Amino acid sequence: MQTLTVDLGERSYPIYIGVGLLARSDLFKQHLAGRQVAIVTNDKVAPLYLEQLLKTLEGCEVTSVVLPDGESHKNWETLQLIFDGMLVARHDRGTTVIALGGGVVGDMAGFAAACYQRGVAFIQVPTTLLSQVDSSVGGKTGINHPLGKNMIGAFYQPQAVMIDTAVLQTLPARELSAGLAEVIKYGLICDAPFLDWLEANVVAMRELDMTVLAQAIERSCAAKARVVGVDERESGLRAILNLGHTFGHAIETHMGYGVWLHGEAVAAGTAMALEMSVRLGWISEAERDRGLRLLLKAGLPVIPPEEMTPGDFLEHMAVDKKVLGGRLRLVLLKQVGEAVITDKFPHEILEATLRADYRALVAQLGE
Ligand code: NAD
Ligand code: GLY
Repeated sequence: MQTLTVDLGERSYPIYIGVGLLARSDLFKQHLAGRQVAIVTNDKVAPLYLEQLLKTLEGCEVTSVVLPDGESHKNWETLQLIFDGMLVARHDRGTTVIALGGGVVGDMAGFAAACYQRGVAFIQVPTTLLSQVDSSVGGKTGINHPLGKNMIGAFYQPQAVMIDTAVLQTLPARELSAGLAEVIKYGLICDAPFLDWLEANVVAMRELDMTVLAQAIERSCAAKARVVGVDERESGLRAILNLGHTFGHAIETHMGYGVWLHGEAVAAGTAMALEMSVRLGWISEAERDRGLRLLLKAGLPVIPPEEMTPGDFLEHMAVDKKVLGGRLRLVLLKQVGEAVITDKFPHEILEATLRADYRALVAQLGE
C-alpha cells in the first residue's frame, strides 16, 4: 500500500492506494468519527461492493443509502435521499459519511456530509479511475444545476481517501478511458515527463495492467495533492486542474448530463484548449498533435459535438465558475507541462477556436 498526504494543516488527510483496501477494517475504523456510518453508493456499485464494505464495517451502526446511478441524478432530488436516509436512521453529528462510487457519488456524498447538521465526517472510497485520480482528492463537492455543471456545492475535505485499485477490474472500458482524460491532464498542466510515460503505458492501462494503473494513480494523486496543498479554494493555481473543463462543461450541459461522460467532454475540451494555445502562439502544432494522439490512444473523443455552434459554447461558458467580473477566464497551455489561467486573449481567437475543424485536425494526424 502507498500512502500520500494532502497537506492542509489541521485538515490534512491521507490517500491510501493499494489492492484490497475495501477489506481493511483497521484502516476504515481508524478514520471513523464514531459508531454511526452512512454509506452512500448507487444501484450499479452496490451489487458489486456494498456487501464487502458492510463486512469491513461490522460492529458499526451502518445505514446504506443507494442512489440511482448516473450524472443525470447529480441533483437536489437525489441529494435529498441522502438526508432522508440519515435522518430516518437518526444519524447524529458523530456520524461518518462514506462515499462508495465514482465521482458522481463522491461529489454528492461529500456535499451531503458538508451540509448534514452543518458538517459531519466523510471518507472517500472512489471506485472509478476518474474518481481515484481526481474527484476524491481535494474536497470539491456538489451537484449540477440545469443551467450549469457543479454550480451548487462546497469545499469540504474528507478524513481519508481509500483507493482500492482492484475495483477497476469491473469498470467498463468506456469509463476507464474517461478517467484517462484526467490522468493526461496532469501531464499537460504540470508534469511533462509524465506524458512520455503515458505514451509508453496508456495501452497497458487500458488492458488493466494493475501495476501500471497503480503507478498512474499515485502520480496523479501526488500532482493533485501538491496543487490543492498550495491553493485549496481555487484562488489561483488550482484552476489549472480545469484544463479543458470550461469547454467540456459546456458540452456536458448542452448535450444533457450523462450523454457525454465527464471525461469524454474534458477530452474534447482539452483538444480545444490545445488548439487555442496554438492559435495564441504558445505551443506548436506538433505539441498540439502530440496531445491529440495521446487522447486518441486513450480511447477518447477529441472532436466536439458537431451540433454545437460557437454561440452554444459561448452561452454555456458564460456561467462557468471561472467567470470573474463578467470576464471569461480559460486554462490554456503556455507550454507543454505549464498551464495558465487567463482572461487575456483576443475574443477572435476564442471564436476561431470554437469554429475550428477538429475533424480535419484528426485526419491530418494520419492515424
Ligand atoms: P460516475 O460516478 O458516473 O461513474 C461512472 C460509471 O461507473 C457509473 O455508472 C458508476 O456507477 C459506474 N461505476 C463506478 N465504479 C464502478 C466499478 N468499480 N465497476 C463498475 N462500474 C462502476 O462518473 P465518474 O467519471 O467517476 O465521475 C464523474 C463526476 O465527477 C462528474 O460529475 C464530475 O463533475 C465529477 N468530478 C469532480 C471532481 C472534483 O474535484 N470533485 C473532479 C473531476 C470530476
Ligand atoms: N477537478 C478540479 C479540481 O479539483 O480543482
